[in-house]
Amino acid sequence: MSELSLKRKAMQKVESLGDTVKKDPYYPSYHIAPPVGLLNDPNGFIQWRGSYHLFYQWMPFRTGHGAKFWAQLTSQNLIDWNFEGPALAPDQWYDRTGCYSGSAVEKDGELILFYTGNVKNDKGERETYQCKVRSQDGVHFEKCGVQIELPEGFTAHFRDPKVWKMDNRWYMVIGAQTNENEGCIVLYESMDLETWIFKRIVASGMGYMWECPDFFRLEEDVLLFSPQGVEENEIDYRNMYQSGYIIGDFDEGFPVERFRELDRGFEFYAPQTMMDEKGRRLLIGWMGMPDGGEEYFPTHDYHWIHQLTLPRELEQRGDIIVQKPPEELLELRRRKIIEEKGGSWEGDLSRNVEIVISDISEALNMNVYDYFFIACEKDKVVVRRPSIEGAGMEWRAAELDSPLEEIRMFIDRSSLEIFINGGETVFSSRMFLDPSATDCRIEGEASVTVWELRKQKGEEKYEVRSD
Ligand code: FRU
Repeated sequence: MSELSLKRKAMQKVESLGDTVKKDPYYPSYHIAPPVGLLNDPNGFIQWRGSYHLFYQWMPFRTGHGAKFWAQLTSQNLIDWNFEGPALAPDQWYDRTGCYSGSAVEKDGELILFYTGNVKNDKGERETYQCKVRSQDGVHFEKCGVQIELPEGFTAHFRDPKVWKMDNRWYMVIGAQTNENEGCIVLYESMDLETWIFKRIVASGMGYMWECPDFFRLEEDVLLFSPQGVEENEIDYRNMYQSGYIIGDFDEGFPVERFRELDRGFEFYAPQTMMDEKGRRLLIGWMGMPDGGEEYFPTHDYHWIHQLTLPRELEQRGDIIVQKPPEELLELRRRKIIEEKGGSWEGDLSRNVEIVISDISEALNMNVYDYFFIACEKDKVVVRRPSIEGAGMEWRAAELDSPLEEIRMFIDRSSLEIFINGGETVFSSRMFLDPSATDCRIEGEASVTVWELRKQKGEEKYEVRSD
């Protein structure tokens, strides 16, 4: 089928099921979620000609994985996102089983995308191609074909190109698996964004496959990626797959012993970053569950699954990366509904609120809708979610890098993001509880402020543009 027909078919799905999707009490009011079908990794995050553009892996035809599209969103303020429809559909010989994850850059005023063409060939084997796309207007996307074929020494698990410019050269990192089944990140270099030279493996040594790499500079160089096959170790690596970073040096390397998980919650994967015109390094992640656990998500009934995290602003504080809620999120606040100083607090909360807890004296125990049970000590936080027991997902924990001072929580219909001490520690998780439950309790000495948040005001385009 031609790309245009595939895109039209996708939008027909949105038209026929979009209203049902929005009726789901679990459909988020201010997070990004698909208009229908399955959403996974954020892709191509960039500020281009002043607007934020964000794409994501999209399966419009069902709530399972498969031949992915790239859906496109635009925003002026990082909170109100317009759904622009499908930007890429899997129509070529080199991407026919999926336009897999990738990134965006600007060159000579054009918006350039790089993605992985995923192919399952007639013998049932995987093939992988790193592909390029150009757009002059951010609306029409022209596929330019394959730029990098699979090099020797690696299996076909070779994907998710992230491209950036540094010292007048272009670089690309790709998530890979060696023939010895070791996960790693490889580096390519280009002068013109056309011809790419394989440089080296920049990091390896944990798990069997690393996905969705990213490279950027904070105070030092940072390599971000999502390794698979890392074994659980008490409070660490408790999710099926991890996402984290190594602070290192572009020339000298990224020692894997310095790997740190980025988020401590139940659902967080495949994050991507970009630098905006204000000079901020912004990150957005998939609040999803790769390959498994998805049967526990009741949203299938309403024909959609998964959402993204809120955007976060990264900052290096010593050895750690802090994820701060960006200032734009303050614009979501509609009105202050609770302001309590001192003792414990108990009351009703609807599912579109931001909670700020400060002046915490010692320990705190929180009960959020009888669904999350959060125990906070000065140096440790444990989040329990007993209701999704079957998936081995009962609890997550973190040791804090500085004594507990402030907790900021964003509750949307079916998600909870907890930012501790300005984002030094973050827990991102989904929640699927009785939509009418409102009971929340905070036990301990603290000040509690709660804001009701507004919905995002993004619009949806229903027409696929033809030329
Ligand atoms: C990560 C991932 C990527 C791949 C994409 C396919 O979740 O497996 O490696 O490009 O999803 O949708």
